[in-house]
Amino acid sequence: MKNETLLATLGSSPDDHHGVVNLPIYRASTILFPTYDAFMAADNGNWTTPIYGRYGTPSTMALEEALAQLDKADHAIVTSSGLAAIIVAMLAFVRAGDHVLIVDTIYGSTRRFCDMELKRLGVEVEYYDPLAGADIAKLFKNNTRIIFVESPGSLTFEMQDIPAIAKAAHAKNVLVLSDSTWATSLYFDAFAHGVDINIQSATKYISGHSDLVMGVITCKAEHYKRLHQTYRNMGMTPSGENCFLALRGLRTMAVRLAAHYDNALKMAAWLKTRAEVTEIFYPALAESPGHALWKRDCTGASSLFSFALKPVDERKLAAFFDGLELFGMGYSWGGYESLLVPVQLEKSRTATTWDHAGPLLRIHVGLEHIDDLISDLAAGFARMSA
Ligand SMILES: Cc1ncc(COP(=O)(O)O)c(C=O)c1O
Repeated sequence: MKNETLLATLGSSPDDHHGVVNLPIYRASTILFPTYDAFMAADNGNWTTPIYGRYGTPSTMALEEALAQLDKADHAIVTSSGLAAIIVAMLAFVRAGDHVLIVDTIYGSTRRFCDMELKRLGVEVEYYDPLAGADIAKLFKNNTRIIFVESPGSLTFEMQDIPAIAKAAHAKNVLVLSDSTWATSLYFDAFAHGVDINIQSATKYISGHSDLVMGVITCKAEHYKRLHQTYRNMGMTPSGENCFLALRGLRTMAVRLAAHYDNALKMAAWLKTRAEVTEIFYPALAESPGHALWKRDCTGASSLFSFALKPVDERKLAAFFDGLELFGMGYSWGGYESLLVPVQLEKSRTATTWDHAGPLLRIHVGLEHIDDLISDLAAGFARMSA
């Protein structure tokens, strides 16, 4: 079945719920067992029976089944945030004394977790250039346990050659963990490109409506037990409400993403015509340095990218932002609404350099009409130059 059909049908079981189309929300801590034997048999180590709310309910299980199939994985685990998914995946596989390779363009909170928690636990953390490709082989040590990729990278959107990295990693028995939130399961087939553990923030395009925080880890059968054990030990379960909303988000994900992608291409084309803009960082653009890799590995693009401006007085930049009517200034992305934020790169990179003199802005192009979005930014540029 094609993705659109999967999205319309996965995780739905009307026959089990009086014909109700959508799975009801299971709110649960206690789950009762009818007999002593059922109680004793439930915690059998294969985690298919709900035994306690924190370990999963029919709400989490339906969502996990849907997300696993969509990602062509054997299993999915849903977590209380995207960051929680990243943390569970890392802690499942590393121990004190291990060396981990993390892409320099990693999402900022992942970096903080590595710097403040992994290092404290005795893990050696090394950041690498997103353009390393097969050269990554030079950085593997005897104690390298995982390599973390994120393609395109956060804020500057460099594409990584994941198949080349995975080939080098697997030759050294190193696991490849990927944050694939940007491309989603719809536009990037992670396991076909050598990823071992795939992670997404479901807060973004999966839920799609800026009303929940959630994460998902998908994997093949060989890694499930280890991942699930760590997940159970860390108590990072999402609520039944959020699972319901994420399942509902899935139903429209393909049409939403296609519309986001279309709007983003139009926005990027317009930004290219603006004298204030010096560079656009969006691998879907033919002139982007990562375009060839993006075209080879992805089947579409989401609507998050960034652009650099010529140097401008900070008060003028503030005037650009402050009068915006449609673009909100706030964290996250992947919802239906457009967002624009100034980005501070200086503090967040150690293996790469950033040599643009002007400000960098991250844009999330929402589902509003593109003409209205362009008018909003055009008015902002007019305020900036007034
Ligand atoms: C690329 C990426 N990965 C992970 C996350 C973390 O997701 P969450 O906010 O759901 O914890 C974010 C959040 O912005 C992100 O941009």
